[in-house]
Amino acid sequence: MAEVGTGTGVSGLWLLRGMSADGVLTSVDLEAEHQRHAREVFLAAGIPSQRFRLIAGSALDVMPRLTDAGYDLVFVDGDKAEYGEYLEQALRLVRPGGVIVFDNALWHDRVADPAQRDAETQAVRDLLEQVRVDEDLRAALLPVGDGLLAAQRLA
Ligand SMILES: C[S@@+](CC[C@H](N)C(=O)[O-])C[C@H]1O[C@@H](n2cnc3c(N)ncnc32)[C@H](O)[C@@H]1O
Repeated sequence: MAEVGTGTGVSGLWLLRGMSADGVLTSVDLEAEHQRHAREVFLAAGIPSQRFRLIAGSALDVMPRLTDAGYDLVFVDGDKAEYGEYLEQALRLVRPGGVIVFDNALWHDRVADPAQRDAETQAVRDLLEQVRVDEDLRAALLPVGDGLLAAQRLA
């Protein structure tokens, strides 16, 4: 699995626990300090270090270097303004049948409010439309937390 936005490792820990025992998480974050914390969290939870690869850097610099169709799932929780570009990269990274998941797909209820025109809200809105019209994706928008968009790559 691959992740954009390691943060302090909350989502990463859930992903690691949900994977098979030999599954590996590759997670990218701009902030090396966040990843230091995530590493401590993973190790304290008993996850062996060979099961995660933390890469510090901008997602749009790092994602193009990851393996084509090398991932069963890509989880995105980085910069909302870049969500459309993350989708383009994730479409290349996820294998056919794999799933791309975006957190904050309702973006604090701003997405459904046409009065909200800031760049982040607009980018999340555009992402939803990009996914809706892509015939190679089967998508579901789940109203859990701040909204979770899950899209399966069909071909
Ligand atoms: C909401 S937090 C992620 C929380 C994390 N998923 C968790 O559950 O702990 C967003 C993270 O995205 C990172 N981030 C923001 N812009 C980024 C970018 N352009 N490239 C990579 N990471 C970025 C931030 O440093 C931050 O750690």
